[in-house]
Amino acid sequence: MKRYCIAANWKMNKTIPETRDFLRAFLPLVKDIKDRDVVISPPFTALSAAADALKGSGVKLSAQDVFWEEKGAYTGEVSPAMILDAGCSHVIVGHSERRQYFSEDDVIVNRKVKAARKAGLEVIFCVGESLEEREAGRTFDIIKRQVETGLAEVGPENLVVAYEPIWAIGTGRTATVEQAQEVHAFIKKVLGILYGNKAESLRIIYGGSVTTENVDNLMACEDVSGALVGGASLKAESFARIVSFK
Ligand code: PGA
Repeated sequence: MKRYCIAANWKMNKTIPETRDFLRAFLPLVKDIKDRDVVISPPFTALSAAADALKGSGVKLSAQDVFWEEKGAYTGEVSPAMILDAGCSHVIVGHSERRQYFSEDDVIVNRKVKAARKAGLEVIFCVGESLEEREAGRTFDIIKRQVETGLAEVGPENLVVAYEPIWAIGTGRTATVEQAQEVHAFIKKVLGILYGNKAESLRIIYGGSVTTENVDNLMACEDVSGALVGGASLKAESFARIVSFK
């Protein structure tokens, strides 16, 4: 039986009071869910408050990004140790918005993955093609390059891979179950080449306009082991329904 991982990515949303309000409503709704991992990723400023509110709940805490150096003169950056210190067990690395708006390439993503893992964080490593790349028939090439370079010299431990087609993020245009399954199966194959048997237990989660309506079908795909949820994770009732998929 696979253990699903359902992660919320709040992006640049929610203040500290809003984070507390969300968790006050959300935690009672998911208190009996023990057979899947539930992760929330508030902005850096709300991590500590979220960590306090999550104590004893079993829900895990993730940052949305991390810098690769341990400390020093890097104005505005946050180290892996600082994220751990704020109460996180997870961190998202390589999200397409980081790649797109902050020019993070595969080499930068790889540095971040390595630094986060070295510090003991579990990494949610994101890959995904743009619409242009998909239409040009380059989806598999792009994904292969992102996986091979992003995970260079990185073992399979404490790793979750998130497939997030860029054209499906925040657009309301979800990948069909066939499209998701096809790319997940491909990622599984690439991971198998990198890690051999050890790749079998790796989870590949889907992200991109996951909603209360489509989650059940997406989670039923053979190689989909969870979801990374943006917009639909901002409301407690909606994210609780997604976490409770059938
Ligand atoms: P979305 O975002 O669910 O709003 O499409 C997903 C993500 O970017 O992780």
